[in-house]
Amino acid sequence: MSAETVVSFKDVDVVFKEKKKEAVHAVDHVSLDVQRGDIYGIVGYSGAGKSTLVRIINLLQRPTSGSVTVLGDDMASLSAGQLRDKRRKIGMIFQHFNLMGSRTIADNIGFPLRGIKSKAEIKAKVDELLDLVGLSDRADAYPAELSGGQKQRVGIARALASDPELLISDEATSALDPKTTASILNLLKELNEKLGLTIVLITHQMEAVKQICSRVAVMDGGAVIERGSLLDIFAHPQQQLTKDFIDTTMQLDATLDTIAKQPAVQHLSDTERLIRLTYLGDTTDQPIIATLLREYHVVANILFADIQSLQDTPFGNLIIIVTGDSDNIDAALKYLSDSGVNVQPVTIPGGAK
Ligand SMILES: Nc1ncnc2c1ncn2[C@@H]1O[C@H](COP(=O)(O)OP(=O)(O)OP(=O)(O)O)[C@@H](O)[C@H]1O
Ligand SMILES: [Mg+2]
Repeated sequence: MSAETVVSFKDVDVVFKEKKKEAVHAVDHVSLDVQRGDIYGIVGYSGAGKSTLVRIINLLQRPTSGSVTVLGDDMASLSAGQLRDKRRKIGMIFQHFNLMGSRTIADNIGFPLRGIKSKAEIKAKVDELLDLVGLSDRADAYPAELSGGQKQRVGIARALASDPELLISDEATSALDPKTTASILNLLKELNEKLGLTIVLITHQMEAVKQICSRVAVMDGGAVIERGSLLDIFAHPQQQLTKDFIDTTMQLDATLDTIAKQPAVQHLSDTERLIRLTYLGDTTDQPIIATLLREYHVVANILFADIQSLQDTPFGNLIIIVTGDSDNIDAALKYLSDSGVNVQPVTIPGGAK
C-alpha cells in the first residue's frame, strides 16, 4: 500500500512579471510529492525558489500554472472558508520567528486559537504546547526576554496550536548558532516521531538536512534538479550542486586546502594517485585497505577520514594516496567500485595530478 500523500505539486510554475523588468521564473515546472511522516528537505542557494515553492502549499503564492493538492484537495478549488480551514492544517515557522513583542509567550502561542476556542480550552492547549517545546516556566515572559532558540520554540508551539498535519519550516534555524540549531532540529524530529507530523524543511544548510530529513530535493534556478531519499542522495549524488552541498557537511574545502600543502601530495610520482572514496553502510566494515594491499599489492596512505551517521547508517569519506603499479591500481579501484565504494580522482588546484 502506498503512503498517504500530504502535498502534491503537479507541474507548478511561478513567473513574476513586473513592469519594465525582466520576468523571473521563480519556480520552474516542479512536480513533487511529500508523503505523510516525511521530513522533506528542500535545499538550494538564495534565490533558488524555495520560499516561493512552499508558499504555494497554503496558496500564499498562487502558481502561474500547475496545481497543488494538500491532504486530498486541489487548493485552487477551495472556497474562501475551506481555504481558511485547510490553512489551519498547515503550520509555518520562519527565520525571524515573527512573534508579537507586546504579548506574553502564552498569548503568542494561543493567538491562532482566539475566536475559535474557549479561554479555558486555549489555556489547556497552550500549557500542553509549552510543555511540548520545553518552555513551561516561561509562559508569562515576553519575547524580548528569550534567547533565539527559545523564541523559535515559541514559534513552533504557535505553529502547532491548531494541530496541523504539516509543518513548513522556512530557514527556521538560519539565525541560530550551531548548537541551538541542533536542538531545534532535534525538537522537530521529536515532533515528527511523537505526533506523526509531516515536515517540509527549507534550508541552505545541508547539515540540517543530514541531521533530520528522510528525503531531500535540491533546487536551482526554480527547478528541482535532483531528489531522493537522504541515503541515496548522499551515496549517489548526480548533480555537481548536490555534491557541493554534501561536501559542506564535512568541511571538504578546508580539508583539501590542508592536504594540498602536504609534500607527499605536491610531489606525486607516476606510481601514486590521489583518490577520494565515499561509501555508505556495510562497506564500512570491510577491510578494504587491507584487501588493496593483500590482493592488489597497492599501498593506501590515509590523508583524511571522516565517518558520519546518516539515519544511523555510517557514511564514510576517505582521501588516500594509493601507491603501486598502474595496472594494479586500476584493478584495485575497480574492486572498490564493485564493492559499492564511490571512487573519484582528486585534483589539487596548482598541485600535481
Ligand atoms: N513577490 C515577488 N516578486 C518578484 N520576484 C520575486 C518575488 N518573490 C520572489 N521573487 C524572486 O523569485 C526568485 C526566487 O525567490 P525565493 O524567495 O523563492 O528564493 P529562496 O530560494 O527562498 O531564496 P532565499 O534562500 O534567499 O530565501 C528570486 O529571484 C526572487 O528575487
Ligand atoms: Mg527563502
